[in-house]
Amino acid sequence: MKSEIFVNQLISWYRHQKRDLPWRHTADPYKIWLSEIILQQTRVNQGMPYYLNFVEQYPTIQDLANAPESEVLRLWQGLGYYSRARNLHACAKTISKELNGQFPKSFEELLKLKGIGRYTAAAISSIAFGIPKAVVDGNVYRVLSRVFGMEHDIAETKNARFFEEKANGLITKENPGEFNQAIMDFGAIQCKPKNPSCGICPMSSFCFAYNNGKQDVLPVKSKKVKVRKRYFYYFIFEYDGRFLMKERGPKDIWQGLYDFSLKESSFEMSEEDVLSDLSNLKHLTILDYSPEVKHILTHQRILSRFIRVKVNDLGKFEGLANEKKLSPFELDEVHKLPKPILIENYLKEVFF
Ligand code: ADE
Repeated sequence: MKSEIFVNQLISWYRHQKRDLPWRHTADPYKIWLSEIILQQTRVNQGMPYYLNFVEQYPTIQDLANAPESEVLRLWQGLGYYSRARNLHACAKTISKELNGQFPKSFEELLKLKGIGRYTAAAISSIAFGIPKAVVDGNVYRVLSRVFGMEHDIAETKNARFFEEKANGLITKENPGEFNQAIMDFGAIQCKPKNPSCGICPMSSFCFAYNNGKQDVLPVKSKKVKVRKRYFYYFIFEYDGRFLMKERGPKDIWQGLYDFSLKESSFEMSEEDVLSDLSNLKHLTILDYSPEVKHILTHQRILSRFIRVKVNDLGKFEGLANEKKLSPFELDEVHKLPKPILIENYLKEVFF
């Protein structure tokens, strides 16, 4: 019941309030596709001149396909996310050369094309071909979570399906393109992220957020902490049953625990580059270069490798200890030292 009223109010609102946008006067899938790609991560006002330039320069998909990539990128200049332009051009070539210039008419077929994800495939199939497939974007999250009290965390990509299911249950079969554009406009103009216009909203009498004072907390979006990736390359120098280790210092993980000589990088290094750190390979034998071992911490992901290096000469062994501030330990001493689990697990597998 509430769903029915919502859809009726939405369509009626849209017919009065909709924005007059150039791609709304055409059923040409090429122009609809172009507008949707431009409008990803871009506001309508900013994207509009680009859309107009593109359709003037390239009135058909063949014109776009035949253009040099540098020219397409030049026209895109200032919009950002340049992979969108490269994908746009590649997709135009595919459609022009392999599909006889015709856009596929189903959601699934559209999805196979370069740069066309679920959002764009739903937009094209509904607006150009009348297929009842709902779009899900930031506007849709906001409108549905507020009106229907959906409290799924939208920072979790796996939750998109709840909104997609809800929207697919609401979409009108008679004019799905109109429904999709209506919910986008309603989100952009009325049900705005900040200061939504609840006082003049046709949904307020049955809107969950309005009636519970939750406009500020819906949609729920947790702050995703950025996970730092660290690449650890551990050198295990051993000589005559003794191993070089060191105590970890302050201002980093694992203070006071013992590990091996460490080379750290913020990106993955080739084996060759890692080993080049051992400047003088004389007196050294590489016994093993381990596969990558992952170690997950709350805000860090440690991707480590262990390189076993046999030192063939006592002088060299002592030199390495001095140079890298390491101390030698017998295996039974190593066993007793406090160590990070990452190191403990490795030792268990190889030595203990
Ligand atoms: N944002 C992205 N696509 C849109 C469309 N078709 N109408 C309104 N806003 C949009």
